[in-house]
Amino acid sequence: MKILIGSDHGGFNLKEVLKNKLKEIGHEIVDIGCESVAAVDYPDISDKMALAIKEEDEKTRGILVCGTGIGISIKANRYPHVRCALVHDGFTARLCREHNDANVMALGGRVLGDELAIECMEIFLKTDFIPKESYVRRVKKLGEC
Ligand code: RB5
Repeated sequence: MKILIGSDHGGFNLKEVLKNKLKEIGHEIVDIGCESVAAVDYPDISDKMALAIKEEDEKTRGILVCGTGIGISIKANRYPHVRCALVHDGFTARLCREHNDANVMALGGRVLGDELAIECMEIFLKTDFIPKESYVRRVKKLGEC
């Protein structure tokens, strides 16, 4: 699977941990930045993610990390083609795929420990959307403003 991954400085360390795990599993990774713990603006990373994922097929997933996951997910969700879920645990990682067809997951680098973040990522990547008529209808409405 092709994975786009990005963070601000608050999520940089966790991004590196997640990248190492993704490499281990054998996924194709595109790192959209940032490159260090030097401060950057998280909305800029969300913009990069939104533009990059638009060029990919629907199977491609995105992972965004900032300090809390909040700011970076708010900005990513300004784009109708992005369904970014702020995930805290295995349950939200699974449900955001099964019910919401989230194509991007946001995590808080200052909130989650590495092991929990890896667990969230693995569940997010392996879980399929459930194409129930009601779920499909609701997900379609997410892109309509
Ligand atoms: C950066 O200090 C911090 O505000 C950012 O990483 C994020 O938590 C914003 O929502």
